[in-house]
Amino acid sequence: TFVIALPCVDVKDKACLEECPIDCIYEGERMLYIHPDECTDCGACEPVCPVEAIYFEDDTPEPWRQFNTANAEFFTDLGSPGGSARLGPIGKDHPMVAALPVQDT
Ligand code: F3S
Ligand code: F3S
Repeated sequence: TFVIALPCVDVKDKACLEECPIDCIYEGERMLYIHPDECTDCGACEPVCPVEAIYFEDDTPEPWRQFNTANAEFFTDLGSPGGSARLGPIGKDHPMVAALPVQDT
C-alpha cells in the first residue's frame, strides 16, 4: 500500500484526493490517510502531492515509519468504507498524529 506521512500534517493539499481512481484516501482532522486494504498501489497519488508526503510503504523515510502504522490504524474502527466521498471529512486523527505539535510550513 501507499501511505501518507508527516508533510501532509496541517497542510492537506488534497490533490491526492482528486487523483485516486478508487477513492481510498480519507480525510482526517489534520492529515489524510490511505486505506491499506482498499489501495491498489496504482501510484497515481504519489507524484501529485506538492509536499511529497506520499510513499510506497517500503520507501517511507525512516523518521516517518510510524506513519505506515498510523495510516492502517486510522481505519481500525472505520473498517473498509469503500470510498471516501460518501464519508466526507472524518473529524479525528490517529493518536500519534493528534499529539504532534502544530506544523508550520
Ligand atoms: Fe496531503 Fe499531499 Fe494529499 S499534502 S492531502 S498527501 S496531496
Ligand atoms: Fe489511490 Fe494512491 Fe493507492 S492513487 S489506489 S491511494 S496508490
